[in-house]
Amino acid sequence: MDAAERRAALASLEIVEWTPRVVEPQSPTMDVGMSIPSSASVQGRPATPETTADIGQLDWTALRARVDACRACELCQTRTQTVFGVGDHSARLLIVGEAPGAEEDRLGEPFVGPAGRLLDEMLRAIGLQRQQVYICNILKCRPPRNADPTPAQAAACRPYLERQIALIAPQLILAVGRIAAQNLLQVATPIGRLRGQCHSIQIGEAGGRVPVWVTYHPAYLLRSPREKARAWDDLKAVRRLLEAEQP
Ligand code: URA
Repeated sequence: MDAAERRAALASLEIVEWTPRVVEPQSPTMDVGMSIPSSASVQGRPATPETTADIGQLDWTALRARVDACRACELCQTRTQTVFGVGDHSARLLIVGEAPGAEEDRLGEPFVGPAGRLLDEMLRAIGLQRQQVYICNILKCRPPRNADPTPAQAAACRPYLERQIALIAPQLILAVGRIAAQNLLQVATPIGRLRGQCHSIQIGEAGGRVPVWVTYHPAYLLRSPREKARAWDDLKAVRRLLEAEQP
């Protein structure tokens, strides 16, 4: 992407590259390190008990079929369809959001509503098309009234997400929004403290660690456009991290 293209992409995000960095106020809440229960320890059993042990062996086709048939939590009763994920199975960048909304539930694809259009612009600002990344969510089914995922719902869906991550083996994961970041990293740290540093998660017992960067959710940016400058800082960091490992 040349400078003119980047300026155009930034203009569509309504931000300017030279916006001075604003110092993030520290949250008074000291909850770093409070962990969210992992899939192994979560309360609340799946609606239909089923083994998840083999999910780590599934290929894309079998994984998608398993997700489509999933009845591991109560969201299977209210979904129109599952929202598995979309994009390049060999993507260098994996975007992880929270959960499908109404449009995603209707169309079966993540980030297709207004927040999705802003996400596309954010990607374009760092020279990436939607088809060049992979996009999925913590939850594969829409929570009614877009409620936050419960720990039990997130735990029930986690084996699917972990298998997607293992199959893609991305160079970097970008978690968009507090819910995605906290669930992915299994912490309760506020998003303001998760941004601006590289985290990592271990996938599988023998798997390596995958770097994770955190930014604001595009739906939040639509409500709080002043935060787009900070999101642009995050995107520049993502671009640097991807370029650092360019073959
Ligand atoms: N918000 C999300 O977190 N994911 C979607 O797929 C859509 C909106």
